[in-house]
Amino acid sequence: MSNKVVLAYSGGLDTSVAIKWLQERYNFDVIAFTVDIGNVADLEAIRQKALDIGAIKALVVDAKKSFINSFVFPALQADAIYEGQYPLATALGRPLIAQLLVEAAKKEGATAIAHGCTGKGNDQVRIDVGVAALAPELKVIAPAREWGMTREQLIEYAQTHNIPVPITTASPYSIDENLWGRSIECGVLENPWNEPPEDAFAWTKSPEETPDEPAYLEVSFDKGIPVSLDSKKLDGVTLVQQIHNLAGERGIGRIDHVENRLVGIKSREIYEAPAAIVLLKAHQALEDLVLAKEQLRFKAKVANEYADLVYNGLWFTGLRQDLAAYVESTQKYVTGTVRVKLFKGNCQIVGRKSPYSLYDYSLATYDKGDVFDQGASPGFIHIWGLPVRTQAQVQPLKPPE
Ligand code: ARG
Repeated sequence: MSNKVVLAYSGGLDTSVAIKWLQERYNFDVIAFTVDIGNVADLEAIRQKALDIGAIKALVVDAKKSFINSFVFPALQADAIYEGQYPLATALGRPLIAQLLVEAAKKEGATAIAHGCTGKGNDQVRIDVGVAALAPELKVIAPAREWGMTREQLIEYAQTHNIPVPITTASPYSIDENLWGRSIECGVLENPWNEPPEDAFAWTKSPEETPDEPAYLEVSFDKGIPVSLDSKKLDGVTLVQQIHNLAGERGIGRIDHVENRLVGIKSREIYEAPAAIVLLKAHQALEDLVLAKEQLRFKAKVANEYADLVYNGLWFTGLRQDLAAYVESTQKYVTGTVRVKLFKGNCQIVGRKSPYSLYDYSLATYDKGDVFDQGASPGFIHIWGLPVRTQAQVQPLKPPE
């Protein structure tokens, strides 16, 4: 009796070849497993393709809700952005895929899971480490890391095994997409001097092509979770999809990032993340209003750590749990509404309000109604400047000649 393996199956060439390769190389019965986290695809066609190639079973799971509620929104509350630019769409999807693979493997009595990642990227780390955290007894196989086939050899293997090779001129890019964003790599993008061609983009209009009038939208948050758009209550998936459409139409969300991969490679990545950009900016704007200065400063450091650990495949760790607890505590008063202006590729925050706002008009205003006691300032400054005066007495602090 052969063993069963659950293979994360996208329907693409690599994972299609993997179905056959796992049978030939390891004598596995292959269960194809496709997770929908918002990547546009014909799920039924993918399922059928896996069976045609020889999978003993083909499962598809709609995990959009869990993706948004259990991975994306916690990362949004944390303001997690890798190296100041990348909203982590791919990186957030992988631990969920690992989790679902493990659940499927247990249910189907499989002894291994397999995935299509190469040995050069971050995704292999995220899935391997995710599985190691949740089910260390499962073997993880990454055929593309082992088989050492070139693109041409892969196509030849497919042809000799009756695996359909897409006849349409395949996209020159390697693409991964989910509800939070689209990652685009390879081809001309590998030269960081090349401007990304228009055909790299699918979700966002070129700012040159966008309407000449701005669009406005209002996002409301409840404890750091976006809950309504223009006063209409929406579930998380729908809210993200609607903002995605509005912002993509206005050219928002294009990112061009030379990033540092965990495996040591610098990599030029193009992203489209219209909804992520709008929501992250709006969320931060609301935090600016309701969190105290020291809370904001400290939270920014945590955001950085949080983004690094998501990027580096450490979602299922004690540290992430600890940071998540901290983040949740910071969100107690992150409730309110933010008004956003979308125009020609720019997403600008133009208004914010909250019942927990720390903004006090009577302290801030220069008009009548000012209650700030300016007479108290000299005493405050006297004490504040004390160490400076002390130092200046013994160590001249003059500017250089
Ligand atoms: N560089 C990004 C990341 O590490 C995107 C990876 C895209 N993955 C892919 N299989 N095309 O998260």
